Amino acid sequence: MLKRTHKCGDLRLEDAGRPATLSGWVANWRDHGGLVFIDLRDRTGITQVVFKPDTDAELHARARALRSEYCISVQGRVEQRPAEMENPDLPTGQVEVNARQMELHSASEPPPIDVESGEDVSMDVRLRYRYLDLRRPAMQHNLERRHRLMQSTRRHLDEQGFIEVETPFLTKSTPEGARDYLVPSRVQPGRFYALPQSPQLFKQLLMAGGLDRYFQIVKCFRDEDLRANRQPEFTQIDIEMSFVDEADVQAMTEGLVARLFADLGKGEPALPLPRITYHEAFDRFGTDAPDMRFGLELRDITDVARECEFRVFQQAAAGGALVRGLCVPGGAAMPRSQVDELVEWTRQLGAGGLAWLKLRDGRPEGGISKFLKPGELDAICRRLNAGDGALLLFVAERRYLSNLTLSHLRLRLGRELGLLEGAPDALCWVVEPPAFEPDEVTGRLTFVHHPFTSPSQDALDRLETDPASVPARAYDLVMNGQEIAGGSIRINDPALQMRVFRLLGYTEEQVEERFGFFMRALRYGVPPHGGIAFGFDRTAMTFLGIEDIREVIAFPKTQRAVCLLTDAPSEVDETQLRELGIRRRED
Ligand code: AMO
Repeated sequence: MLKRTHKCGDLRLEDAGRPATLSGWVANWRDHGGLVFIDLRDRTGITQVVFKPDTDAELHARARALRSEYCISVQGRVEQRPAEMENPDLPTGQVEVNARQMELHSASEPPPIDVESGEDVSMDVRLRYRYLDLRRPAMQHNLERRHRLMQSTRRHLDEQGFIEVETPFLTKSTPEGARDYLVPSRVQPGRFYALPQSPQLFKQLLMAGGLDRYFQIVKCFRDEDLRANRQPEFTQIDIEMSFVDEADVQAMTEGLVARLFADLGKGEPALPLPRITYHEAFDRFGTDAPDMRFGLELRDITDVARECEFRVFQQAAAGGALVRGLCVPGGAAMPRSQVDELVEWTRQLGAGGLAWLKLRDGRPEGGISKFLKPGELDAICRRLNAGDGALLLFVAERRYLSNLTLSHLRLRLGRELGLLEGAPDALCWVVEPPAFEPDEVTGRLTFVHHPFTSPSQDALDRLETDPASVPARAYDLVMNGQEIAGGSIRINDPALQMRVFRLLGYTEEQVEERFGFFMRALRYGVPPHGGIAFGFDRTAMTFLGIEDIREVIAFPKTQRAVCLLTDAPSEVDETQLRELGIRRRED
């Protein structure tokens, strides 16, 4: 086999006159009658190879049969390209390799993906032929950056005295708010392992075990509805520390973030990162993962609306809805058709409508302007800090729908008005979420973070009487509108842990059955501890400015949790089911 001496991105003018052997894939081939040109690609770049009939007629004939994505090695002499043939866009563009030998390792059928342009291919085709998709420079770049982040994380945490410990995948359910993936046991028929939604309880047990500072880069499994930033199996940088409070975990996290910024050449984030409370995040941005790269903040005008002439606002406010708006400076120039489209889109999100008006030459114009009295308009404009040329948009809905609609609207406007372009990364901590809230479907009290998060110490006396008002000692790290990490200070007192379980509706038996092992551990001297977990894929995606998590995962699944490459999940045969003691339901 020809052994390569250089990579396809290596050769420069200084190498002219020297021999070189390259290995890679045929990115492009051009048969100019006399000469055959090949662009040879590997992970590092592209080098032009030329096959000349007068160098070796037989070799030239073999080269004419090469096609896209054939895998070959080529040995030859590096030569300077004639001036008019130089390619200033390629680092290797001043040279070419004049081939003397060629070894065909493997031919390729015509590829269903144009690896070079990467264009006109649906995500489904990309996932089905992921190995071809991975040859694309963009995917290689993303995975290389992901690798860099992972290595920096490991190095940094090691230097900070953390030790990496692996925890089991075949385990018991760890409640993180999603459904479990279950694995049937063959040797214990009728029993199931759950794949971990996170290593939460194990990392707490490691603190009980005196490990002091733990981390793990680990797969987590959650059967939940998928979105652009979610996968059923994803990776966390999972961290836990003993003898710490919120400030310690946050400072450690900021140190790691600064290191990742530096190692990725992204400059230095200004530390400490800003902190806003969970409630403030919803008030100002309609979400607990606010994109703070741009303004367009929400303002509440419910009090003005309640007193105003405009019946839609008045009745909404009287009925318990929030009337909130945002001001788009310069938005008065937006054509009517575009405003109408926003209104329609807001309706599709579930809101009853989107009220609007424009301020032009100091006067209100269009939309709801005719329904408002001058004093009311003044009050609204003052509240929204609206100047001439602005477009004002309002939603009158109950809190949940108001937040949903306005947060989406704000993001859409930010994007369409180009407010994200060139904006520096914006990171912030979102702190003091409530510990508990009613479940949207069942109305039963549920945890906001997870049931092992400590409620705020000052609020323990009202835990049973007014649980919804109790803040959690939890924190999320948000970057450019993505929740990239979340964590908390944990409960280390068995009595308090039991109170929380009771509050969540667990009976003593259920606690024993599900968490007995953990409750026992809490009785043996557990240090105060807390931690955090980064969604690693999400962090990589956000660091790279990408909006689809699948671009930073080698073998992701579709929105329907299918692996198109392998066709998992798949049927299994009866024998396997029988061994597992599972019977198919007769439909
Ligand atoms: P949490 O559930 O907030 O906390 O998860 C931590 C981070 O993981 C990422 N994440 C996901 N990424 C991709 N796909 C998913 N389906 C997905 N779900 C979550 C998010 C999130 O911020 N055990 C706790 C951590 C702790 O308390 O220390 C936990 O897992 O970026």
